[in-house]
Amino acid sequence: MLTGKSIIVGVTGGIAAFKSAQLVSSLYSAGAAVHVVMTRSAQEFVTPLTFSTLSGQPAHTDLFAPPPDGSVQHINLATMADLVVVAPATANILGKVACGIADDLLSTIIMAAACPVLFCPAMNVNMYENKVVQRNISTLKELGYHFIEPGTGRLACGAEGRGRLAEIELIYEGIENLLWEKDMRGVTVLVTAGPTAESLDPVRYLTNRSSGKMGYALARAAARRGANVILVSGPTALKPPAGVEYVPVETAGQMYDAVTGRFQAADVVIKAAAVADYRPKQAAGLKIKKTPQSLTVELEKNLDILAELGRRKGRQVLVGFAAETHDLEQYAKDKVKEKNLDLLVANDVTLPGAGFNTDTNIVTLVYPGGGTIPLPQMDKEALAHRILDRVMEIRKEQR
Ligand code: PMT
Repeated sequence: MLTGKSIIVGVTGGIAAFKSAQLVSSLYSAGAAVHVVMTRSAQEFVTPLTFSTLSGQPAHTDLFAPPPDGSVQHINLATMADLVVVAPATANILGKVACGIADDLLSTIIMAAACPVLFCPAMNVNMYENKVVQRNISTLKELGYHFIEPGTGRLACGAEGRGRLAEIELIYEGIENLLWEKDMRGVTVLVTAGPTAESLDPVRYLTNRSSGKMGYALARAAARRGANVILVSGPTALKPPAGVEYVPVETAGQMYDAVTGRFQAADVVIKAAAVADYRPKQAAGLKIKKTPQSLTVELEKNLDILAELGRRKGRQVLVGFAAETHDLEQYAKDKVKEKNLDLLVANDVTLPGAGFNTDTNIVTLVYPGGGTIPLPQMDKEALAHRILDRVMEIRKEQR
């Protein structure tokens, strides 16, 4: 999706400047035209040659360098850009832009840019938490500048805390999100993902094989399309996508509270999570010890979250999933009616390449009127967009 896009990567003077080489290389490999602009301090850490080599064009360093065609360099660069990303962004560049100072090539480009600008701060934890820096960040956010927050951990200066440049993968994802067509702007989408885990004792639990990939793909796709996304997720090994409100839960009861508590604020709810239908009636307070006898565990029913949402539904578009091993269409048609859904995504989880813990899925879309649309095998990201396309059609029909 980056083919043909012009991206300016601004590199400012911090130790994380070397990590931007990876970002430039990834953007260039994805087909973007990458123009690197380095501040004077950035050149103390990495040489322009590194970025020229990785981007296939000279890195820009000097506001007054005469371009060969006699044009105005900073205006040219700002006008052709689809996006400016500043990584790492120091306290200095944040302060300058927040105060309207434009005294070098990068700050003049940012001032002249009409495209989105994404800052990826990286600095010492005390600098990052300094009230002046935080005030500048708030000002920039209010003015419509975008941010990928820094990570937490051991910093190059030896301190521990927030201030590490965000993972390059997250920055890359943030860039893709900003460049995607924003047909879901203003729509709040609540997605559930992953399994639930129901305690048996302090060390054991009942769960299922859901990896969260389907739900996270939906959350990522909706965020890219400009939606406000709330991701309520059971335990998974996945990183939450950039730009979503992440609500981690463990049990079906916690998921019920998290989802019903946010239902009123949502325009669309997509329940891709594999919620446990039952939980142990009594979770033991201490580890259950092994005995020669067999063990019987009594299970009691969890509340059906989706059915409850179906009862409460007002303006929301409600999308359920069904994981079936047989009689897919019949069960799916029953579920659409029973749970008062607008759309049901039914997957036969016995098929190779479908269902749990796979990168692809094979589903049939089932509508309340009984209509069905079988879809071919596709990766979960592509399927997420197909589902969101249908959701947007349903919203249009409802209006
Ligand atoms: O996470 P992945 O590894 O990518 O796998 C994806 C998936 C197989 C989990 C996903 O594609 C899927 O099918 N999710 C729904 C699984 C499921 O629980 O199906 P179900 O037929 O048991 O439930 C029907 C619907 O009711 C689901 O939307 C479920 O979220 C919801 N439900 C179920 C039980 C319950 N107590 N509350 C619910 O809300």
